[in-house]
Amino acid sequence: MNPKKVVALRGLISRFGDNLVLNGVDLDIMADDIVALVGGSGSGKTTLLRHIIGLHRPAAGEVFLFGEPLFAGNYLEQQVRRRRFGVLFQQGALFSAFNVRDNIAFPLRELKALEEEEIQALVAYKLAMVELEPEHALLMPAQLSGGMSRRVALARALALEPELLLLDEPTAGLDPDRSTSFVALVRRLHRQLGITVVLVTHDVSTLLALAGRVAVLADRRIVSAVSLEETMKLDHPFIQSFFQLFSKRG
Ligand SMILES: Nc1ncnc2c1ncn2[C@@H]1O[C@H](COP(=O)(O)OP(=O)(O)O)[C@@H](O)[C@H]1O
Ligand SMILES: [Mg+2]
Repeated sequence: MNPKKVVALRGLISRFGDNLVLNGVDLDIMADDIVALVGGSGSGKTTLLRHIIGLHRPAAGEVFLFGEPLFAGNYLEQQVRRRRFGVLFQQGALFSAFNVRDNIAFPLRELKALEEEEIQALVAYKLAMVELEPEHALLMPAQLSGGMSRRVALARALALEPELLLLDEPTAGLDPDRSTSFVALVRRLHRQLGITVVLVTHDVSTLLALAGRVAVLADRRIVSAVSLEETMKLDHPFIQSFFQLFSKRG
């Protein structure tokens, strides 16, 4: 498989008991893509992301990550593959008992390969990368604003310098200014780090600012994955109502 193909989903079927959530999802994500995944509430967007990173096993179909079948290889090889992506889960939960520094350090400590000094230096570097100040390192999650905790969660997702970044509704619940600056940050990181980004969003300004392509999840599959401009022209009931909602909001 083409090594530039970061993610390939083929005929992915996913069910929880009797609940058939995904029924034949095909999707390719190329290196350096920014793909926005949109779909109704409960349509399976989070489930799809979880399949990409192996948190769910498909009922049928295949998932390829970095050109290899997701579950290929021994434990060690799977661990290595796991370090190549970073995730910001929906609601981006930080470990509430850990301060900012220890939250960001968590994946670095799990490697068990770095000296404490190196870890501290990397945490400082990641903080700067998400435009937070060194003194923020000692704050506890409860002391952070919504925008700041989202940035800390992003810094943690970037800790191991992933090639692929998955963001599940990263701007949900942020006020418009915070949302705009978070999106600008993701854009800059994509450009500077050459990282491939998949993000779930409902937010039109996020779509406009970020998406290279829009992958539309409807009818339990990806019905299109083309540019925003082309997506808006498509004649599909979900797509029509989705963008109608946007134009009404202005
Ligand atoms: N761990 C789970 N166990 C059982 N059902 C689940 C689980 N996760 C998601 N679902 C179901 O799968 C469907 C899709 O959920 P989800 O992927 O969270 O949707 P979205 O992120 O698009 O809102 C829903 O019907 C939800 O109830
Ligand atoms: Mg979700």
